[in-house]
Parts: sequence; structure tokens; C-alpha cells
Amino acid sequence: AAGDVKKGADTFKKRCKQCHTVESGANHGTGPNLHGLFGRVSGTTSGFGFSDANKKAGVTWDGEKLFEYLENPKKFMPGNKMAFAGLKKEKERNDLVAYLKDATK
Ligand code: HEM
Repeated sequence: AAGDVKKGADTFKKRCKQCHTVESGANHGTGPNLHGLFGRVSGTTSGFGFSDANKKAGVTWDGEKLFEYLENPKKFMPGNKMAFAGLKKEKERNDLVAYLKDATK
């Protein structure tokens, strides 16, 4: 089922916003700006210094890939430098992915 965008926004604010922006043209932070994320190949946002692991992963981001990545980023993409342990709750990830789909387009 489609996630709850409002709950996802809440999770983003608490867990992601300290490192990521989503708006078009917003600055990169500790992590890359996520605008236009869906349909983009991982590690290709211009102007951000990605790790080799992120650059070489060759993942095209979509809802399913993000749902899996966000459970355990280090497992999904070994060697990536995102300092984030992951979100174990499926509902929380589903809501967050719904928010990201909306907020990054
Ligand atoms: C990379 C999402 C939390 C720092 C990424 C990427 C995504 C993402 C999708 C890959 C971007 C791409 O390949 O174009 C999220 C979400 C978060 C979160 C949804 C919250 C649940 C964080 C936090 C930090 C962070 C808290 C900082 C402590 C980074 C960094 C990278 C990255 C440094 C690049 C990793 C590398 O080059 O290996 N994030 N992130 N992220 N994120 Fe996050």
C-alpha cells in the first residue's frame, strides 16, 4: 500500500534532514541533495563527493531499491560512507519512501 507522506516527512525531519536536502537547487550537506532521486543512477548527483562504493554501485533508485537500501545502507551498498544504521520498521520505510517520491520530484 502507498505510504503515509506526512509520517514520512516526520521521519525525514528526524533522521535524514541533518544531512540531506530535497528541494531543487538546494545545497549539498554532509550528504547529497536528493532532488530528482527517483530514476537517477546512484552516486551521480553533480557537485557531491561520493565514495567509490556509491559511485560504482550502479543502482537506479526507485521505491523498491530505496526501501531495501534504507533498511541497512551498509549491507545494501558495502563501503558507502553514509553514517546511518538504517530503519528497521517496514512501515516507517514505506512512509519515508512515499515522502521521498513526492518531495524529491
Ligand atoms: C547518500 C538517503 C540519512 C549522509 C544517500 C543516498 C540516499 C540517501 C538515497 C544515495 C544518493 C545517491 O546515490 O544519489 C538518506 C535518507 C536518510 C539518510 C532517506 C534518512 C533515513 C543520512 C544521514 C547522513 C547521511 C543521517 C549523515 C550522517 C549521506 C552521505 C551519502 C548519502 C555522506 C553519500 C555516501 C557515499 O558517498 O558513500 N543518502 N540518507 N544520510 N547520505 Fe544519506
